Amino acid sequence: MNERILDLFTKDALETARANNTYRSMRLMESPESSCVKIRSANGVLQEQILLASNSYLDLANIPELKQAMANAVLEWGTGSGGARLTTGNKAPHQELEETIAKFKDTESAITFNTGYMANVGTISALCGKGDYIFSDTLNHASIIDGIRLSRANCKVYRHNDIADLERVIKEAKAEHATQSAASSDTRPFRGLIVTDAVFSMDGDLADLPVLLRVAHEQDALLMIDEAHATGVVGKTGRGLAEHYGCAHADVTVGTLSKAVAAEGGFVAGSKKLTEFLKNKARSFIFTTAMAPAVAAAANANLKYIDAHPERVQKLQDNVKYFCDTLRSAGFQIPPTASAIVPIIIGDEARALEISAALQKRGILIPAIRYPTVARGQARLRASLMATHTQEQLQTAAAAIAQAVKEGV
Ligand SMILES: Cc1ncc(COP(=O)(O)O)c(C=O)c1O
Repeated sequence: MNERILDLFTKDALETARANNTYRSMRLMESPESSCVKIRSANGVLQEQILLASNSYLDLANIPELKQAMANAVLEWGTGSGGARLTTGNKAPHQELEETIAKFKDTESAITFNTGYMANVGTISALCGKGDYIFSDTLNHASIIDGIRLSRANCKVYRHNDIADLERVIKEAKAEHATQSAASSDTRPFRGLIVTDAVFSMDGDLADLPVLLRVAHEQDALLMIDEAHATGVVGKTGRGLAEHYGCAHADVTVGTLSKAVAAEGGFVAGSKKLTEFLKNKARSFIFTTAMAPAVAAAANANLKYIDAHPERVQKLQDNVKYFCDTLRSAGFQIPPTASAIVPIIIGDEARALEISAALQKRGILIPAIRYPTVARGQARLRASLMATHTQEQLQTAAAAIAQAVKEGV
């Protein structure tokens, strides 16, 4: 190992991260993901914590019948898939999962990827290329941003959830395209893709799907939404934004199987034409080994469980309402939310960290989110709720948050 050369690549970045308090390290969780978890404190004692930081919104990871479904699939299909989907990796659990997703999302077809990250990167870079335009909400997830970069398309970022600004950048792009076409022999039509998170992961607010559908229709653009934090959470039975608003689907709906579905993988739901195109063009689908069949079987069983248990989605939504109401009664300004993400804005980065650490000492695990994940001075506690939190746990957490914030820790 040539440490000196490695330092040329790594030293500055690591030193800057340390100096800016943005150096990242991993916490070891010593129990399975659930509404109550165990972690070790600095002095080595194993501590119970109420978990307000999980993406496993429906808390499905430990349900005996679902664990058994995955175990059975390991026994039937082995530990790995052995090949890409287009070579030898495509097994019955993969196809069954895609059928279940299409049914759950009420679309003609669905295709799975190994992660939601790969679904976004592969889909955007397959659909768009040089000369195309992508219109992206300023708060979109990193996997959307990376897909845009990989596509080499022109990117126009619009202000968060600001439809007037979206229309402004589309107009600007169309004018640019017309000028360039006139100055060259390029006769390719204008191609534009509007892409947005469905639920914004640091704020918990929703994209306005009905309005975005209207703009996409008026502007002849394609619309893609990422339902990573919406699937299993938003809408009466957890089907996402189309169910929540009672409107049509976007042309392209991306999602993950790793959050409320509590397995692993990503998906795209839409028309058969779209999924056939992605099978042929999405490099993160083509050039990678298929997910293990048992992972596909687990996602399939969990998604069917969500379908059969809408009361679990309802319980999650009731918990969100209860928690927000409790925080409001304690004097916090919490905007209404239809997602399971509740940001409690603190502002100062160091203070948010202190409050989060103080809460952990009181048995409540809730992360402080700071720059660069959110804008400077917008540091926050980001609470994410689960269907299995009890009202008593939520009451305890809200009281501890109020005390920590008001007493200045
Ligand atoms: C909005 C959004 N999209 C995509 C992803 C990626 O999904 P996955 O974890 O399955 O890669 C995440 C989070 O991880 C996310 O928050």
